[in-house]
Amino acid sequence: MEQKELVKKLETLQKTDYDALQSYDKALERIDDDELKNQILQFRKDHERHIYSISDLLRTMGLTPSSSFPDLKGVFLQGITAIEGLSGTEGVLKALEKGEIMTNDEYAEADTWFVDPKIHEIITSNYKDEKKHLNFIRNAIKDKIWEKRDH
Ligand SMILES: [Fe+2]
Ligand SMILES: [Fe+2]
Repeated sequence: MEQKELVKKLETLQKTDYDALQSYDKALERIDDDELKNQILQFRKDHERHIYSISDLLRTMGLTPSSSFPDLKGVFLQGITAIEGLSGTEGVLKALEKGEIMTNDEYAEADTWFVDPKIHEIITSNYKDEKKHLNFIRNAIKDKIWEKRDH
């Protein structure tokens, strides 16, 4: 893959993680269950780490990574707007699920890039986190874990 194309793709991936971060912030304001909140906070940290890991890659390639991401994109942005209108935990988790599906799709694609092993390693590691996020959120919705703890 040409460097120019790779940079563009990495930046898109990074933007998705940034969208996720914003979405998680909104979600955290709207979830009461402490255990669930802690888990979501851990996932938020993963996304933050993903953003830094991609910045590091861009720096390795001799580029200056963007420090701000003014134009949010994609499902996560819709998710953020949706989350603002929600009060129930289930709705918030469903909005996060949508965003995580998109993130997982993007990382799945990135995982197939023919790139330097060091870059591939970071993408695979981030992707592993994303799979964990989606899996947890899906199960949380299915089992309504926040309800179980109320009783
Ligand atoms: Fe992420
Ligand atoms: Fe995620």
